[in-house]
Amino acid sequence: MKKPTTDHKSQITKVFYYGKQTIDNSDIKSVAEILPSQFITQGPVSQQFEQELCKYFGAKYASVAANGTAGLHLIALGLGWKKGDLVITSPITFLASANCAIYAGAKVDFADIDNKTYNIDPKKLEKKIKYYLARNKKVKAVVAVDYAGHPCDWDSLSRLKKKYGFQLVNDFCHALGAEYKNDLHYAVKYADAVNLSFHPVKHITTGEGGAVLTNNPELDKRIKILRTHGMTKDDSILEKNDGPWYYEMHEVGFNYRITDFQCALGISQLKKLNKFLTERRKIADYYNKFFTGYINLITPYVSKHTKHAYHLYPLQIKFDKLKLDKKVYYNRLKELGVVFQVHYIPVHLQPFYRKKFGFKPGDFPVAEKFYEREISIPIYPGLTKTDIKYISRAIVKALETK
Ligand SMILES: Cc1ncc(COP(=O)(O)O)c(C=O)c1O
Repeated sequence: MKKPTTDHKSQITKVFYYGKQTIDNSDIKSVAEILPSQFITQGPVSQQFEQELCKYFGAKYASVAANGTAGLHLIALGLGWKKGDLVITSPITFLASANCAIYAGAKVDFADIDNKTYNIDPKKLEKKIKYYLARNKKVKAVVAVDYAGHPCDWDSLSRLKKKYGFQLVNDFCHALGAEYKNDLHYAVKYADAVNLSFHPVKHITTGEGGAVLTNNPELDKRIKILRTHGMTKDDSILEKNDGPWYYEMHEVGFNYRITDFQCALGISQLKKLNKFLTERRKIADYYNKFFTGYINLITPYVSKHTKHAYHLYPLQIKFDKLKLDKKVYYNRLKELGVVFQVHYIPVHLQPFYRKKFGFKPGDFPVAEKFYEREISIPIYPGLTKTDIKYISRAIVKALETK
């Protein structure tokens, strides 16, 4: 691997993106074994994957789904969100955390992030809840996101849930393997429903895929019905029963299923999750040490009671202090073979949300400042020590290039 240099593309032997899947021969074998079998969808492997997910995350119930967005839609409908309801989430998240409320016809608002953890700030959330209560409006649900893999302040969120009676969802897509108060099983303990994604950049992948975890049997039942067109064969629900072929539909659902060969990949990947987490944490340790001491860089904070899962490594660069344009920096770094992504453009600033709800720049200043400074740098299993060293040096080198 060449040292970072400013003279150019021809010298770059490898391009590093912020994330990618890690697939080995055992994964390929697991998928290949399922392909010739009788059921390649709606077969036993999907159920096996659900059981494995329950075991790993300490959940009573799991429903695998077509992707994480479908999972959030199922949660929204399963929890009964409807027109006129109000759902609050973080402005620093992927669009789907907010869009799921729109799918259900609900209104979306945001509470700004905590400056240190980049997660929804419970104090700002309470302020927002009180604002609405003063106008006779109750918050139906809060979608909290364990951003980058750092758990939210779940004790405070849980206290607010009890005090104000809202439903609590954990959009857990970034945090597979994170721990809160030494507990790997925290997600389903605090939230009514927990959403996972198995997109290739996430900790484990099924190509496209997702899952909903819950300890609530009624919610689980509803989600499983809604996942398959709203169809049920459950005798306790059927109005009549014409025979073994018979099913009924009592409400409209979707086809949000995932195939059995994808689930075979999921099972194989889940076996490696602990190893993947160790690798991600080692890379983060290296970056933490490397970037500490650069006054214009801010490394991600890890609060006392948490273990970070590092889906992302969000590095903040004080572009304002450096008088450096983020786009110029992006291109410089790209020429060195390092392509960062930005997580996230604050959701309230998307044209859709501005137009529909009247949000404007300045509404959530901590999130907006974070967006100006944040870059997500490469972190995924398989990066070698030489790669990580190269990437770290390139990140600093590109700051200095005139
Ligand atoms: C926080 C969050 N929620 C939801 C999703 C949606 O998941 P999927 O891409 O599997 O639909 C993502 C994916 O990027 C995400 O990061």
